[in-house]
Amino acid sequence: MTAHLSCVRCPQTYPLMELRYRCDCSGTLDVVHDPSQFQLSTATLDARRASRSPMDRSGVWRFRELILPLPESDLNDCVVTRGEGNTHLYEAGALGADLGVPNLWLKHEGENPTGSFKDRGMTAGISVAKHLGMTRVACASTGNTSASMASYAARAGMEAVVFIPEGKIAYGKLSQALAYGARTLQIQGDFDDAMALVQDVCALEGIYLLNSVNPFRIEGQKAIGFEILQDLGWEVPDWIVLPGGNLGNNTAIAKGLLELHARGLIDRLPRMAVVQAAGANPLYTAWTEGADVVPVTADTLATAIKIGAPVSWRKSLRGLRALDGVVTQVTDDQIMDAKAQVDAAGIGAEPASCATVAGLKRLVSEGVIEAGAKVVGVLTGHVLKDPDVVVNYHTGDLTGIHALRANRPTVVAADLDAIREALRS
Ligand code: F0G
Repeated sequence: MTAHLSCVRCPQTYPLMELRYRCDCSGTLDVVHDPSQFQLSTATLDARRASRSPMDRSGVWRFRELILPLPESDLNDCVVTRGEGNTHLYEAGALGADLGVPNLWLKHEGENPTGSFKDRGMTAGISVAKHLGMTRVACASTGNTSASMASYAARAGMEAVVFIPEGKIAYGKLSQALAYGARTLQIQGDFDDAMALVQDVCALEGIYLLNSVNPFRIEGQKAIGFEILQDLGWEVPDWIVLPGGNLGNNTAIAKGLLELHARGLIDRLPRMAVVQAAGANPLYTAWTEGADVVPVTADTLATAIKIGAPVSWRKSLRGLRALDGVVTQVTDDQIMDAKAQVDAAGIGAEPASCATVAGLKRLVSEGVIEAGAKVVGVLTGHVLKDPDVVVNYHTGDLTGIHALRANRPTVVAADLDAIREALRS
């Protein structure tokens, strides 16, 4: 075996395929790879991208040696893929200029099969579940993880159980969990309650846990960073900016970039900026105070990142330090304003994704990110995940939000002249 599990808090290690999510000391676990075990070049990765093989074409499994170093025959038996990844890296054009960073690209992870970046971690997690012979999988979710897990479990013929906070997830996401056939438990509590409960239920019921506390989810999500580099012809940007909720994604991207760098596939590292909603900001507080994360009660319109007790905070801080990172926070008003800009640019993304752009705006105005910097912002979820918030913004129905870019629908009589008159006004 060319990799093992290692505790982030103490020196304890475990075999790669041992069925556990935490160390005996309760610390979370990392997959530690052995770089001496294989050679991988950017030319090989580029050739795979052009290949017809489903494994090579997947924006996760193309990087398989860096994701799940099992023998190729084992991978062929266990990998469950929907061709995830291969998302657009949009040149932001006028939007970048508007934000004060003309060299801006937006990596749209909402273009994954179930509409969010979660599919990258989920293909890895479900494939490991299959390798381990698990038949039931579960997660707690603000919506996207559950949508993704429900879909991949269905493809793998597994039973899916999702724990979602009752009444607090966007409709697009709830509908996906139901549509893909997951047993859906609406927990009468918030995401943090659901997260605590699912860990206990999985342990008691022998269900495989697929939250990002599962180290293989993190391994799959590393591919966002790999693909950004590949999209840019392996030229390293100055900054990668992304939202932070449970903090798995920034942990993953940082870990992957450090591994690419250690193998000489890139010659330097980008800096990383993590953006939190001001109403769900435990990482921001810990970062600015130089302290450990202390859970908070979360409240934000960006329901995907409405998380007060992030599971991956320790790993997240480690990655941020290694990438000379920063953490910032933005209000819901700023998130919705940035969202209106991203949407009107014809790209569109859900609110949590647009924390990226709101945070970028703030960091540019503070001079942390310089105007000449080459910046990649990650948009994590599709605009249709949360249609209610879009309509409510544009009709001026979001309490506390100054909908300065509202594009109100016009009610008009079913009459040619009335319509022509409406078009002139
Ligand atoms: N953006 C979106 C659209 C998300 O769904 C999430 C997390 C994040 C950002 C934050 O990523 O948790 O890795 O820091 N959604 C999880 C879920 C929690 O259950 O779908 P993170």
